[in-house]
Amino acid sequence: MELRGVEELMDLLYACRGTFGAPGFPGGPPVDLHQHALRTAALLRRSRPADKELQLAGLAHVIGPLLRPGDRTAHPDCAADAVRSLLGERVAGLVRGHRPDGGLADDDLLRLRQAAEEGRCAGFDAGVLEDWRTVLELVAARNSRLGAVD
Ligand SMILES: [Fe+2]
Repeated sequence: MELRGVEELMDLLYACRGTFGAPGFPGGPPVDLHQHALRTAALLRRSRPADKELQLAGLAHVIGPLLRPGDRTAHPDCAADAVRSLLGERVAGLVRGHRPDGGLADDDLLRLRQAAEEGRCAGFDAGVLEDWRTVLELVAARNSRLGAVD
């Protein structure tokens, strides 16, 4: 399934309010995926303010369980396929590799994994999804221009 626009991605991210993902460690607390997405993206905005794509990978990495409920192993691939046409190959690659068991990682992927782990903890206000609309639209627009070239 491919997301057709920013609105569709935002709808999915709104839909995961109250949906709980697997705990970060055995016996740990389950995380609310919506809050987890916002916190991961906020942490990346803090540590890599210029890298909008990395931040959006942090935001979108949670959508897998919503795309294919019940299929745990497919989540990262599913989520990557869903965001590729909208946000581009780099964001898709980051989303695909976000899990610690996702194989070798470059610096960006390590940062994403670290933020995703830290983003499991409550304890700071990560803002609201609406804060990300402009950035989503910017990256989507840039990506569709790039796509039109080849
Ligand atoms: Fe996560």
